[in-house]
This record gives sequence, C-alpha cells and structure tokens, in this order.
Amino acid sequence: MKGKPILVANWKNKPVSLEEAGDILVGLKRKAQVFKKIKTFIAPPFVYFESVSEKAGGFARLASQGMPLVLSGVHTGAIIPEMLQSFGVRMAIIGHSEERELGETNELISQKVKVALKYAITPLVCIGEKERDHEGEYLEFLRKELKFSLEGIKRSHFAKATWDKKDEIGLMVAYEPIWAIGKSARNAMSPSDLAEMTVFIRRVLTDLFGRKTAEHIPILYGGSVEPANARFLMKESGVNGFLVGHVSLDAKKFAEIAKALI
Ligand code: PGA
Repeated sequence: MKGKPILVANWKNKPVSLEEAGDILVGLKRKAQVFKKIKTFIAPPFVYFESVSEKAGGFARLASQGMPLVLSGVHTGAIIPEMLQSFGVRMAIIGHSEERELGETNELISQKVKVALKYAITPLVCIGEKERDHEGEYLEFLRKELKFSLEGIKRSHFAKATWDKKDEIGLMVAYEPIWAIGKSARNAMSPSDLAEMTVFIRRVLTDLFGRKTAEHIPILYGGSVEPANARFLMKESGVNGFLVGHVSLDAKKFAEIAKALI
C-alpha cells in the first residue's frame, strides 16, 4: 500500500478535564512537525472537539469515537452525523471492542459504516478476538466479524469518503486483539504474529472487495503500542499504522511512536 503511515490517538473517556486536554494539545503542538510527516488523527471525547480542532488543526485531523446513526424527529441527548461534519471530522472509529462489549453488534456496526460513508467520513472498522486457541478458531471468528461488520458495503461506497483529494480510499481496518489492549509493550503482539494477521485480514478484504481494492485499504494495529515496540511492529508486520489508546494521552510518548512510523 502506498501513502503515508497512519497514527490514530484514541483518547477514549480521557482526560477528565478541558484543562488537561489543553495540556496534552500543547505538548502535541510542540511536536507538530513529526505529526505532519504522517497522517495523524485525534479522536477525543465529543466535548473536546472544539478544542482539538482549534489547537491541533494544523497537524492532525479530527476523528470521532463512534458514529451516530441518522435519526428522524427530535431526540434529547442525541448527536447527529451533520454535527461531526460541521467540526470537520474526517474519520470515525467504529466497532471498537469496548463498544461491542456494551452490545454493539456487527449489524449495527455495518449500518454505522454506511452512515459514515454517506457523510464522507472514513470508517475505521475495529476487529479483534478475545483470546486465542490452538486450533485457530479465532481466525474464523475474525473473518466473520470483519465480513459482517462490512455487510452490504461495496467498493463504490468508498469513493465518497476521501480524506484528501488525491487519496481515494475511504475505509480502514484496525486489528485490535482484546487480550492486548490497555497493557504494556510486553503484552502486545509480536511483529511476526502481527505479520500473519495482516496477511490474513488482507485476504479477507480481498474476498470481499477484490485484490486491487483490498491492497489499498490501510490496516492498523492497536493494543499496547508504545515507543518501546512501535518501530519493530511497524517495520516487520506490514501494518500501515497504529491505533493508540492510553499512550496517546502522553504527548511525548505519542510523538515517539509517530517518529517510529517515519
Ligand atoms: P491501548 O488501547 O493502546 O491502551 O492498548 C488501544 C485501543 O483500545 O484502541
């Protein structure tokens, strides 16, 4: 796959205050030159959208944690896709394991992917197994999870969701084994295991969309990516970038990960 490596900060439900969010953004801005060399996205909680788009607009793109469905009528407490668009959101994390854990199904995820594509927002579809078994059943689980999360999506749907004019692809996949999330580099995947998974996921994407298209869909890895393992994971696994959770709240470490991608 051609194109710049991709780095996504998934802030989840952190930090707890606007002041702390501001501090992280000041730290990130100091390293703006590094982030500009790759495709950097920041996915903060909705309440920090304005702050992130104002302070990080020059070096990172705004992303959303999740994708609201289109609602008709009036709904107290709801956010609608147009609001994301108005902030300039370019990408949405969909199907994260923490959302799936709360009951988000593959069917709902595929609907959200469709909405994202309709609103020209690139879906980053997350998949990942809870645990591994010796018989390799987790592979079949992942194949189905990806296939059903993308049910009804066709190549022609991607064209609308472009993140810049010269870049046509509007779909990304994040492989995040649940057992590796929120730990430390020691618990992350080994580069060789990840290399196998990248080939496997690309094969599933090829079955769904054909080889030419599948080759252009970025595959990211997430699960305890840290400065200590980023370089090897990137070099030896064939992934196109990372989805980073807890370390993305530490501007210095996040910049080190960015450097490892260059
Ligand atoms: P982690 O989270 O980097 O804290 O493991 C990754 C994720 O859940 O997206």
